[in-house]
Amino acid sequence: MNKKLDKRKLETKPYKGVRDFYPPDMAIQNYIFGKMRKITESFGYVEYGASILEPTELYEAKSGEELIKEQTYSFIDRGGRNVTLRPEMTPTIARIIAGKRQELSFPLRWYSIPNAFRYERPQRGRVREHWQLNADLFGADGIDADAEIISLAEQILKELGAKNTDFEIKINFIGILTRYLKTEFKLDDKNTNTLIKTMDKYEKISQEDFEKITNDIIGKEKSAKLLKSLKEKNFEEFSSYKEIKYLEELKNKLSKSGISITISPFLTRGFDYYTGMVFEVYDTDTENNRSLFGGGRYDNLLEIFGAKKIPAVGFGMGDAPIQNFLERRNLIPKYTSSTNLMLCALDSKNIPYAQNLAKELRSNNLNIAVNLSNKKIGEQIKTADKQNIPFVICIGEKEEKTDKFKIKKLATGEETEANKNEIADIIKL
Ligand code: HAM
Repeated sequence: MNKKLDKRKLETKPYKGVRDFYPPDMAIQNYIFGKMRKITESFGYVEYGASILEPTELYEAKSGEELIKEQTYSFIDRGGRNVTLRPEMTPTIARIIAGKRQELSFPLRWYSIPNAFRYERPQRGRVREHWQLNADLFGADGIDADAEIISLAEQILKELGAKNTDFEIKINFIGILTRYLKTEFKLDDKNTNTLIKTMDKYEKISQEDFEKITNDIIGKEKSAKLLKSLKEKNFEEFSSYKEIKYLEELKNKLSKSGISITISPFLTRGFDYYTGMVFEVYDTDTENNRSLFGGGRYDNLLEIFGAKKIPAVGFGMGDAPIQNFLERRNLIPKYTSSTNLMLCALDSKNIPYAQNLAKELRSNNLNIAVNLSNKKIGEQIKTADKQNIPFVICIGEKEEKTDKFKIKKLATGEETEANKNEIADIIKL
């Protein structure tokens, strides 16, 4: 065997773009998921799940070119099947609903918090494996369903501590930009798509680069006019569109419940399945003015399974962008361990007593760890502190004899005397 290889140490870092979750990281994720679950369930949504492996063809139909050509983790399994690690949940929920369409009763409110893989360039808030709350409403079309989905998304942000000024909800109606460009500039599909993509990133590219592309398609004069309209966010031509009227109605409806939204005719979403209202929520922090999450209406997706159409609307909210958003605003609670108390033994012969006491206390819904290290008591207390365990009790001969204890709160050093049956109450205070 090659000696060099033999001695090589394996990397401890995780694979590029994916995260390890040490207990404090896991606590943050659980905190965020807990809030997501609480609010989503309070709106009547029930949880579902599915495998992360899907046949590749599921995404080829309608997930959009960029996702399928550049971002999927796909491979051929040992049986020669093309398989993909799911990059998103929408095709999966459509598949499982189409599969039992006859047995399910609609409207149906389902949610899930799956992980998803996308081969993207890792950067702040964008990773190669993320978790995504998906909340979707099937079998209800129209403005009330669209409003519910946006209200739910907004309520989750509020539950996480966000203020109205921390985020902006932009909405659009799929297809209006295409129609406008086709009628205004008499363009074919290919040029329309190029123009839409260029408009979408006009703030990220230089004016020169913008004009280089648009001049070729619509000429210098119209290109300048288009850029002016984009900069001024003013497209008067749209005001007569029935879709814009619908969005205005939706905006009025939501404003009655204190939710403000901005109609943005240039908002695009990178999936081919959207058919109506789409929305995207942005961080208003000028240093992090990014999209946090988004969704929309997709009424035709079930057709790819040969099933009858069912109207659907939903959104996906990623853990990484939300965590980033919360961290910038100090909205993540300080970490404490899920272990409430550590029992430390003064001597190894006190360990069996500590173990019995732990057993009794656990039946009071306390999480108890017994320190088995046999180290000096000061060291044991330090360990509890480093592990963010809030309380310790030291067990020695005296405690064994009297069944009386000193509960030490590590944050303050304060000690409280207690009998066995008082411990749970003191710790839960
Ligand atoms: P999406 O906009 O591609 O939509 O993803 C939804 C959200 O997932 C994003 O806005 C972001 O919060 C998070 N996300 C996506 N990719 C990454 C990544 N690489 N790293 C971190 N977070 C990420 C969809 O996936 C649609 N299927 C959502 C939907 C559900 N539409 C209707 N129902």
